[in-house]
Amino acid sequence: MRKSWSIAVRVLGLSFLAAALASPVLAASGNAARGQTKAAACAGCHGADGNGGADPTWPKLAGQDADYIAKQLVDFKSGARKDPIMAGMAAPLSAQDAKDIGAYYAGLKAKAGAAKSAELAKQGERIYRGGITNRGVSACMSCHGPSGHGIPPRYPRVSGQGPAYTEKQMLAFKSGARSNDGDIMTRIAFRMSEQEIKAVSDYMAGLH
Ligand code: HEC
Ligand code: HEC
Repeated sequence: MRKSWSIAVRVLGLSFLAAALASPVLAASGNAARGQTKAAACAGCHGADGNGGADPTWPKLAGQDADYIAKQLVDFKSGARKDPIMAGMAAPLSAQDAKDIGAYYAGLKAKAGAAKSAELAKQGERIYRGGITNRGVSACMSCHGPSGHGIPPRYPRVSGQGPAYTEKQMLAFKSGARSNDGDIMTRIAFRMSEQEIKAVSDYMAGLH
């Protein structure tokens, strides 16, 4: 009896180990080459190099976490995240298409951005690094990383993003218009003023 337990434990232990080793591969199960073909229709707004387009509210996707991109596409398709343009773009995509496209954009190089106002960026930096303690706003850095590169697979990259896009998302989280975040960002943004949102958005644009 004991012997069979120890074998079972060993076998289980090995399969856990195998699962642990396999998970990064699973997480990156998108095929970037196929993703590139499927992303042909996206370049007009998100840029041929994934660094955004003519309108400042069209986000950069280059260097964004693959799983985060795939999740957003699935959410646009289901309506969990609402945007009239992206609902249409995501409608024909399968879950595998979303993963492939995620893998493609994750592999592109994000171009650095810049803050527009030194004064706003200074205020934004305090919020990004230290949060707003008396209102229970956690430091953004604790989830999005000290350089804003995100922590895959859950926390997206926020550095270098166009400040108009970031501000629009923060205001949407604040109002609840964007609520596909498991209640994390909506709670944070709800406690921030519009001015604080502007400041942290400007700071993150220049973060790299
Ligand atoms: C006509 C312009 C346009 C086209 C074409 C377009 N997008 Fe978008 N995309 C947008 C806009 C605008 C947003 C921001 C929506 C919002 O404000 O919530 C967006 C957001 C996104 C996001 C979320 C980014 C983030 O950081 O959360 C992803 C992912 C995305 N698009 C992928 C795609 C893919 C893949 C395609 C092609 C299949 C595509 N888009 C085509 C305009 C476009
Ligand atoms: C407890 C973890 C956590 C903290 C702290 C946090 N975030 Fe987030 N943030 C998230 C998660 C998770 C998402 C992705 C939500 C989703 O899946 O749609 C996100 C998404 C975002 C997005 C949307 C990115 C995009 O491409 O659309 C922005 C902008 C953002 N966070 C800014 C901030 C700012 C600014 C702060 C600090 C004031 C902050 N976050 C603090 C977890 C966090």
